[in-house]
Amino acid sequence: MSNDIRAVCVIGWPVEHSRSPLIHNFWIGQHALKGEYRREAVTPEAFPAFVKELAQRGYSGANVTIPHKEVVMTLSEPDDRAQAVGAANTLWFEGDTLRATNTDVEGFLANLDQMAPGWDRGLDDAIVLGAGGASRAIVYGLLSRGVKTVRVANRTFSRAESLRERFGSKVKPVTWNEVGGLLAGAGLVVNTTSLGMKGQPALDLRLEDLRKNAVVADIVYSPLITPLLRESKDLGLRYADGLGMLLHQAVRGFSLWFGVKPEVTPELRAMVEEDLTKPKPE
Ligand code: ATR
Repeated sequence: MSNDIRAVCVIGWPVEHSRSPLIHNFWIGQHALKGEYRREAVTPEAFPAFVKELAQRGYSGANVTIPHKEVVMTLSEPDDRAQAVGAANTLWFEGDTLRATNTDVEGFLANLDQMAPGWDRGLDDAIVLGAGGASRAIVYGLLSRGVKTVRVANRTFSRAESLRERFGSKVKPVTWNEVGGLLAGAGLVVNTTSLGMKGQPALDLRLEDLRKNAVVADIVYSPLITPLLRESKDLGLRYADGLGMLLHQAVRGFSLWFGVKPEVTPELRAMVEEDLTKPKPE
């Protein structure tokens, strides 16, 4: 066995907030691997050169975060999933070829499978709030599970329409104001907007209009329990939180880089939760 340390990084601008190093270094330790996961703050101007030199810099792979998730598609060979979503967050080498994929899709699905088992059984009608990159990954994931109708609501309606253009007629763009009237018919509601995030207003939805067996998911993980999830919990609805999605989306990257499929365990979750809730040093 080689003594080489396998290095991986998350590339973003800014990148300090990223919890990926915590997650991957936890798994590296758990599996006693010779590896290291670092943060790399790289400006949009410097990003193309950085990616081209990834291997020379000693990296076997990387995560890519804001604002590089779309441009990285032009600097690598994206897989079908990344192409369908139009954004990638994970890079790895196949021989000398730099490949890219989008792990938000399986992160979202695996988290729902874990937190609300059976959520997709007979699911005809889902509502997705927001129409950015995260929404595209989630809509793609829902369609891949056979959801018949995915209603996409967005403040800027034209962006919701662009999801129908991308994914076809199972996607129905709806206006922000229509959402309230659609809740009674929905089996799943997903927030992909930044509403409910620390410092942002909460989503204004009448969740009591949902069926008792409906499921609510939020991609926001700071706070851990958003006002949307708090209300879902109070109403006895099943829900999936943003932290779970963050943890599950990390699984595939780790498998690609280190050849071991890691697990999302309560210990890992508790460790990241603690970091998210501790006060930030200024
Ligand atoms: P990401 O790639 O993480 O999905 P994004 O592309 O910036 O990020 O998308 C953010 C989403 O949150 C968008 O759907 C955005 O709505 P607009 O397309 O109208 O900008 C939504 N969003 C952000 N702030 C919002 C607010 N105050 N009210 C409603 N929607 C909001």
